[in-house]
Amino acid sequence: MKINTKKTVWWFVWIVLSLMLSGYYGNALLSTDISTDKSVYLSGKTTDGHYQIELKCDSCHTEAFAGKELLQKACLNCHKDELKKVEDSHPKSKFTDPRNADILEILDARYCVTCHIEHRSEKTRLMGVTMPEDYCFLCHQDVGKNRPSHKELGFETCDDAGCHNYHDNKALYEDFLVKHMDDKSMLEIMALPQRNLKEHFVRQDEKYSQTLSADNIDMPPEISANKAIVHEWEKSTHAKSGVNCSACHVSKGEWIFKPTISVCKSCHEPESKSFFASKHGMRLGVELPAMKVSDARIDLKNPDKKILTCNTCHTDHSYNTEKAAIDACLGCHQDEHSKAFRKSKHFAAYQAAKYNKAENNTGLTCASCHMPRLEHRELGEKRILVDHNQSNTLRPNEKMVRAVCLNCHGLKFSLEALADSKLIKNNFNGSSRFENEGFAMAKKREELKRLGLIKDDDD
Ligand code: HEC
Ligand code: HEC
Ligand code: HEC
Ligand code: HEC
Ligand code: HEC
Ligand code: HEC
Ligand code: HEC
Ligand code: HEC
Ligand code: HEC
Ligand code: HEC
Repeated sequence: MKINTKKTVWWFVWIVLSLMLSGYYGNALLSTDISTDKSVYLSGKTTDGHYQIELKCDSCHTEAFAGKELLQKACLNCHKDELKKVEDSHPKSKFTDPRNADILEILDARYCVTCHIEHRSEKTRLMGVTMPEDYCFLCHQDVGKNRPSHKELGFETCDDAGCHNYHDNKALYEDFLVKHMDDKSMLEIMALPQRNLKEHFVRQDEKYSQTLSADNIDMPPEISANKAIVHEWEKSTHAKSGVNCSACHVSKGEWIFKPTISVCKSCHEPESKSFFASKHGMRLGVELPAMKVSDARIDLKNPDKKILTCNTCHTDHSYNTEKAAIDACLGCHQDEHSKAFRKSKHFAAYQAAKYNKAENNTGLTCASCHMPRLEHRELGEKRILVDHNQSNTLRPNEKMVRAVCLNCHGLKFSLEALADSKLIKNNFNGSSRFENEGFAMAKKREELKRLGLIKDDDD
C-alpha cells in the first residue's frame, strides 16, 4: 500500500488541532470562573427551563466529553425526586424488559435526552420537549384496537389538556376519574374544614417559645436602627418566636448589616431547598449570582432593579406573608393572567374572609396556587410548610388539581377549567369552554366491567 505522506501530515495536524481545541472547549466548559463568557461555546439557544443556569455548563456537562450516561445522571440529580413524587408513568424500569427492545430501537425512552435535547430551539416545544407531537403513536399504535373509545382519536391529541401526560398522570388515572365521577360541579368539598390561610407551623422548642418586645432587643448600642425597623420586627412572628436581632445580624461575634440567604437557610432549610429548585432560586441553587429581573425571558416590571432572594418577597422586618403572597408577585409579574387576578372571584372571596376576620378562607392568593401549603415531614414531625418551588404545580397544569383545586372544587370542574387557556389568561373569571370527555369514557368502561364484558386488567 502506498502511503500518501501529505495526507498523513494533514491528518496529524488535524488531530492535534482538534485535541487542542476540544481541550480548550472542555476546560472552558468546566471552568468555575463565571466571569468567562461561556455562552459563546453554545451550539444554540438553551430551553426556557434551563437558560437561567446555562452559564453553569458543568451542572449538565459534568465532565468534558461526558457521554449519555453522565448527562442522564445530571438530569436525575436535579429531577429525580419530582418525577418520583408524581409516580412517573414511563420510568426507565418500564423499558428494561427485553420484550421492549424493539421499541428502544426506534425511540430510546430510557434516556431523558431522547426527548429533551438542549440548545435546539428550532425543534423545542413547551416543557423542553424535542419530539414531534404525535410520537405516542410509536408505542401505542394498538390503543384503538383495545379501546373502541380511542378509535377515532389522532395521536397528536393524546396529551391534550386533561387527557394524558407522559410523566405525571396523578390527576388523570382512570380510577381517579371514577372515584371523582360524582363530584359536584363547583364548591364541592367545601364542607371539609378548609385550610386556614394564616395557618403556619410554629416550632415548639424552648428556644423559640419566648415572645420578645422592643425592650428585649439585643442590637449593640453603636448600631442605629430606626424605630420603624424595631416596630416591624415587634409585630413579626420572629419576635413572637424569640428570634432576636442578633439571630440574623450577628455572625462570629460581628454585627453584619445585610444578612444573606445562608442566615435564613440555617433556620428554614425546607423553604430554602424548594426555593433553590424553583425558577426563582435556580441560579442560587447552582451557585450563580441571584437571578435579576432583567435576566427574564418573560415581560416583567422594572427590569434591572430587583434580584431574587428570600428578602425580595419577604421585604421588611415584619416578614408579612400576606404581602408576600400577592403584592410582592405583582411588583414584578405583569402578564394578562397576573393582572386579571384582582378582578377574580377567588380574590373577592379572599378579601371578604380577611375583612370578616374569618378563620377559614375560601379565597385564594397567587401563592395558594403557585406555592401551596403542603404537609411536610421533618425530623419525624408533621409541619405545614409553603412549597417555594412554583414549578411543582405549574406545568403540565393538571399538577395544580390535587394540590390546590380539589380542596374546594370537583375534579371535572377543575380539569375543565385548567384545559381552557382563555380562562387561565383572565385568571378564572367565568366558566370553561371545554368538556372533558374522559369521564364519559371512564363511565362507559365501568359499565362494561360491571356487566362482565371486559375484565379489570384489560388494556
Ligand atoms: C441543563 C443542562 C445543560 C446545560 C446547563 C448546558 N448544556 Fe450543553 N447540552 C445539554 C444537552 C442535553 C445536550 C445534548 C446532548 C446530546 O445530544 O446527546 C447538550 C449539547 C451540547 C453541545 C453539543 C452540540 C450539540 O448540539 O449536540 C455543546 C457544544 C454544548 N452542549 C455546550 C454547552 C455549553 C458551552 C454550556 C454552558 C455555556 C452548556 N452546553 C450548558 C445540556 C446542557
Ligand atoms: C442543576 C439542576 C438541573 C439540571 C442538571 C437539569 N435541570 Fe432541568 N430544570 C431545572 C430547573 C430548576 C428547571 C426550572 C424549574 C422547573 O421547570 O422545574 C428545569 C426545567 C426543566 C424542564 C422544563 C420544565 C418546564 O416546565 O418547562 C425539563 C423538561 C427539564 N428541566 C429536563 C431536564 C433534563 C432532560 C436534564 C438533563 C439533560 C436536566 N433537566 C438537567 C434544573 C436542572
Ligand atoms: C419519550 C419522551 C420523554 C422522555 C424519555 C422523557 N421525557 Fe420528560 N417530558 C416528555 C413530555 C412529552 C413532557 C410534557 C409533559 C407531559 O406530557 O408529561 C415532558 C415533561 C417533562 C418535565 C416537565 C414537568 C413534568 O413533570 O412533566 C420534566 C421536568 C421532564 N420532562 C424531565 C424529564 C427527565 C428528567 C427525563 C429523564 C429521566 C425525561 N423527562 C424523559 C417526554 C419525555
Ligand atoms: C417508547 C415507548 C412509549 C412512548 C413513546 C409512549 N409510551 Fe406510554 N407506555 C409505554 C409503556 C411500555 C407503558 C406500560 C404499558 C403497560 O404497563 O402495560 C406505557 C403506559 C402508558 C399509560 C398507562 C400508564 C399507567 O401507569 O398505567 C399511559 C396513559 C400512556 N402510556 C400514555 C402515553 C402518552 C400520552 C404518550 C405520548 C405523550 C406515551 N404514552 C408515549 C411506552 C411508551
Ligand atoms: C429574620 C432575620 C432578621 C431579624 C430577626 C432582624 N433583621 Fe435586620 N435585616 C435583615 C436582613 C435580611 C436585612 C437586609 C435587607 C437588605 O438586604 O436590604 C436587614 C437589614 C437591617 C438593617 C439595615 C437596613 C438598611 O436599610 O440598610 C438594620 C439597621 C437592621 N436590619 C436592624 C435590625 C434590628 C434592630 C433588628 C431587631 C429589632 C433586626 N434588624 C432584626 C434580617 C433580620
Ligand atoms: C434563628 C432562627 C431564624 C432565622 C435566622 C430566620 N428565621 Fe424566619 N422564623 C424563625 C421562627 C422560629 C419562625 C416562626 C415559625 C417557625 O417556628 O418556624 C420564623 C418564621 C418566619 C416566617 C413566617 C412568618 C409568619 O408570619 O408566618 C418567614 C416568612 C420567615 N421566618 C422568613 C425568614 C427569612 C427570609 C430569614 C432570613 C432573612 C429568616 N426567616 C431567618 C426562625 C428564624
Ligand atoms: C417569590 C416570593 C418568595 C420568595 C423569593 C421567598 N418566599 Fe417565603 N413565602 C412566600 C409566600 C407568598 C409565603 C406565604 C404563602 C402563604 O401564606 O400562603 C411564604 C412563606 C414563608 C415562610 C412561612 C411558611 C412556612 O413555610 O413556614 C417561611 C419560613 C419562608 N417563606 C421562608 C423563606 C425563605 C427562607 C426564603 C429564601 C430561601 C423565601 N421564603 C423566599 C414567598 C416567597
Ligand atoms: C423580583 C421580581 C419577582 C417577584 C417578586 C416574583 N417573581 Fe415570579 N418570576 C420572576 C422572574 C425573573 C422569573 C423567571 C422568568 C424567566 O426566566 O423568564 C419568574 C418566574 C415565575 C414563574 C414561572 C414562569 C414560567 O413560565 O416558568 C411563576 C409561576 C412565578 N414567577 C410566580 C410568582 C409568584 C406567585 C410570585 C409571588 C409569590 C412571584 N412570582 C414573585 C420575578 C419575580
Ligand atoms: C386559581 C389558581 C391561580 C391563581 C390564583 C393564580 N395563578 Fe398563575 N397560573 C395558574 C395556572 C393554571 C397557570 C398556567 C400554567 C400553564 O398551563 O402553563 C398559571 C400561570 C402563571 C404564570 C406563568 C405564565 C406563563 O406564561 O408562563 C405566572 C408568571 C403566574 N401564573 C403568576 C401568577 C400571579 C402573579 C398570580 C397572582 C396575581 C397568579 N398567577 C394567580 C393558576 C393560578
Ligand atoms: C380555597 C377554595 C378554592 C380553591 C382551592 C380553588 N377555588 Fe375556584 N373558586 C372558589 C370560590 C370561593 C369561587 C367563587 C364561587 C362563587 O362566587 O360563586 C371559585 C370560583 C371558580 C371559578 C368560576 C369563576 C367565575 O367567575 O364564575 C373557576 C373557573 C374556578 N374557581 C377555578 C379554580 C381552579 C382551576 C382552581 C385550582 C387551580 C381553583 N378554582 C381553586 C374557591 C376555590
